[in-house]
Amino acid sequence: MDKAFQLSWKSIHREGDELTVEKDHVFHRNFHYNYPLIEKAEGIYLYDESGQQYMDASSGAVAVSVGHGNKEIIEAVAKQAEKVAFVHTLRFETEIQHHLSRLIASIAPDTLDTVYFTSGGAEANESAFKLARQYHIGHGKQKKTKIMSHWNSYHGNTMWTLSAGGDNNRRSLYEAELHEGTVHVLPPYRRGRPSSEGMTPEEFGEACLKEIEETIIREDPETISAFIVEPITGSQIAALVPPDNYLKGIRKLCQTYDILMIADEVMTGFGRTGEMFAVDHWQVVPDIITFAKGVSSAYLPLGGMIVSDGIVKVIKEEWDGKFAHGFTFSGHPLSLAAAKANIEYILKHDLVKKAKRQGEYLNGQLRKLAETWSFTGEVRGKGLLAGFEMVKDQMSNMAFESEFQAAEKFNALSLKNGAVLYPGQGQVKGEKFDHILLGPPLTITTQEIDKLITILEQNCSEFSELIKSTV
Ligand SMILES: Cc1ncc(COP(=O)(O)O)c(C=O)c1O
Repeated sequence: MDKAFQLSWKSIHREGDELTVEKDHVFHRNFHYNYPLIEKAEGIYLYDESGQQYMDASSGAVAVSVGHGNKEIIEAVAKQAEKVAFVHTLRFETEIQHHLSRLIASIAPDTLDTVYFTSGGAEANESAFKLARQYHIGHGKQKKTKIMSHWNSYHGNTMWTLSAGGDNNRRSLYEAELHEGTVHVLPPYRRGRPSSEGMTPEEFGEACLKEIEETIIREDPETISAFIVEPITGSQIAALVPPDNYLKGIRKLCQTYDILMIADEVMTGFGRTGEMFAVDHWQVVPDIITFAKGVSSAYLPLGGMIVSDGIVKVIKEEWDGKFAHGFTFSGHPLSLAAAKANIEYILKHDLVKKAKRQGEYLNGQLRKLAETWSFTGEVRGKGLLAGFEMVKDQMSNMAFESEFQAAEKFNALSLKNGAVLYPGQGQVKGEKFDHILLGPPLTITTQEIDKLITILEQNCSEFSELIKSTV
């Protein structure tokens, strides 16, 4: 081959082994954002082309649970690629499909025994909505079509999952296209609910459940197919942990009204919150758990659902065994190999317990930090899913003006200082509020948490100056 050659079409140039990087051909999420070019990722760190180190304190989008550069996962994928890289699950099965399904079923709660694979979280949730529909038709409940969910939840960016989600920032552009058959209730979140003042967590949980039951009755239980819940809210209300009676209450309501309970564990699954699944904190067994992200630590795209025996029985007996659904990449062997090695790594290194222990330390340090600064509001979380709100001042708990983009500004300072956070802006009753989500790899050490806190202190100090200069 010529030492230097030029591909003859368009403007891609190659000199020897070097591909000249031309930066004009990527349809970026934001054409006006200056993305650092990451050249290397190792452990909990990313390195850009200039050599700048960033602590990945959000594990990508809370996905890279075992950290970057994990040799066991890389080797497992290579080995699987040599054996069989792809077959279509419409016609064939692979050993890895069985191995991983058995492994996931063995760590899932109680009667959740059968695993369906997709390529990501939105596909997983959309699959669950379809499965719920087929289940209900299968046992004679044709009218059950609606999906219930929370405002301020996130379930994905396809139209049905966007409709079920409660992120007004993302929904607003598509108001006309959103599914009508989605019903939203308020999350167990005290902001925007003055009546909750003075209530104990238990009383608050009861009050929220009462609202949910009223909504179910108003909508007609015979029309509701499934209730999808993030057990601990991720990107929309950073790390909101519900009152202890809340998820159990939802489980009971779903049973009473023959509604399937879907726990969206896309962000929380596989140890992130200090239990294998977040529902395990409350011993709640939903009908379906959906997952993605941490299942493969994002080494390759994978999502899916873990389905209860009762639903599988209906598909087997009433539908001739057929689920009317599927994707080309469902059960892609390489993704499954990555996931199997990833989960084995999590188990072998006891990362679920570690997430719990390190999470308690991180949360304690965040609380101390929040005492120092007036703009750090409530600190929340479980395990290594942690978050804090950004408020004008702690006394009033008032949100920053949304145009100020407090969380984005805070994250920009953080990037400069060497840590990647997960900034967000939620919305309750029209009021937008900023928050920061943290979800470092479950492998993070105590010293690394201390380093993260030092960076956050620096961010806070600079953010405080920024507020002073903009008031
Ligand atoms: C709770 C939850 N559900 C669903 C999704 C969508 O997953 P994906 O981006 O893989 O489609 C996300 C992604 O952030 C999530 O956090």
